[in-house]
Amino acid sequence: MKDSNFLKEHNAKSIWHPMAHPADSQANPPTVVTKAHGVRITDLDGHETVDAVGGLWNVNLGFSCQPVKDAIAAQLDTLPYYSTFRGTSNDQVIQLAEELRRFFAPDGLTRAFFTSGGSDSVETALRLARQYHKIRGEAGRTKFLSLKKGYHGTHMGGASVNGNANFRTQYEPLLPGCHHIPAPYSYRNPFGETDPERLAHLCLQALQDEIAFQGGNTIAAFIMEPVLGAGGVIPPHPCFMPGVREICSRHGIFLIADEVITAFGRTGSWSGSRHWGVQPDLMCTAKAITNGYFPFGAVMIADKVAEVFEHDKSGAAAIGHGYTYSGHPVGAAAALACLAETERLNVPANAAERGRQLFAGLQKLAETYDVIGDVRGGHGLMCALELVSDRATKSPIDKTTIGKIQDATYQAGAMVRVSGPNIILSPPLVLSEHDTDAILAALETGFETALSR
Ligand SMILES: Cc1ncc(COP(=O)(O)O)c(C=O)c1O
Repeated sequence: MKDSNFLKEHNAKSIWHPMAHPADSQANPPTVVTKAHGVRITDLDGHETVDAVGGLWNVNLGFSCQPVKDAIAAQLDTLPYYSTFRGTSNDQVIQLAEELRRFFAPDGLTRAFFTSGGSDSVETALRLARQYHKIRGEAGRTKFLSLKKGYHGTHMGGASVNGNANFRTQYEPLLPGCHHIPAPYSYRNPFGETDPERLAHLCLQALQDEIAFQGGNTIAAFIMEPVLGAGGVIPPHPCFMPGVREICSRHGIFLIADEVITAFGRTGSWSGSRHWGVQPDLMCTAKAITNGYFPFGAVMIADKVAEVFEHDKSGAAAIGHGYTYSGHPVGAAAALACLAETERLNVPANAAERGRQLFAGLQKLAETYDVIGDVRGGHGLMCALELVSDRATKSPIDKTTIGKIQDATYQAGAMVRVSGPNIILSPPLVLSEHDTDAILAALETGFETALSR
């Protein structure tokens, strides 16, 4: 490795970082992470912290998951790559598809289409939804509906259904025919409604209004995260996703569950859809499918959707879509090992338990610091603090102050993520009680130090 002076001097000079202004990255170079172990990361200066970001919602099993590392290393020796385009396959991906079929059977999902990550999975799901309707002779069903505040990656299709201006405005025009409804976000919403259940019904009503306005038979799919993640961790009321399912079914609209974050245990259930008792038509997965160690994803397909494709005799079901790395044997080997570890460790149970501890600790923190306007969580290990400069007016906190809180928290022992006015926490699901306390203690010190400066 080059010495630390070289790395510090060249940090952000020749890299444009995702989700950052290039000039800002040069002026405030990012933390250089050089090592990780368990749930902890170490930077170039040797400073070690708990990683309360969990890589990027993906390192569910921590950084020392030996079975996944071994599987990757062994597969690199045996077959480092081969394509799964028409005519070829590999042993690992066949086994993985069977394992995923078993794993997702309670969600009604029995086929897999492999991708190289979350945005690819979203793109795949949007395309397959349109194609499904075309196969069935409903070519007019091309539109997509989604939630404001939803995050669905950054491909053009994903950005078009994305519900945050930051990921859209500079890249417009986006895909036509994409329409958004209000999110069940009780802290801020156009209805001024703070009761989660009443709000869920208002959002469902907005969905029905939009369907009536667009014409139900013009809509291909509704895409949503079971718990909104990157938009600031917004768990809907339990009646919301089942309500969406019912409305979609009534209008022949696909329900795509974007579970890039929530699949494999994050909510405290094996999948976010199962968390709410819903069976989607398509489910997007990625991230934790390989514990973040290899870029990989899978779109899971409901049995009844598979039947339509598989029984087509017209040729319309030929899939004109795929990635060079779809079904990559190394990714598939990693996913097989990861799935086995995820089940062996029963990570959703720990996510639920530690999630309760973290959420309770954050609520306590809000009793001391007025800048904490809203505390969200309560569904596994995904929590957020929304910061405000004034609790009464809910005016968002300024960038400098939230940046100071993040820095001071890092110095005090926890890496947390800042997204707009939110501090987002998505630690590995193998977090211990002690590590959870360490995150809370670091945040406490972070708030105290930054706000007293
Ligand atoms: C719900 C959701 N969908 C899609 C994506 C995009 O995934 P990727 O960054 O792997 O392309 C993300 C990434 O955070 C996500 O949270």
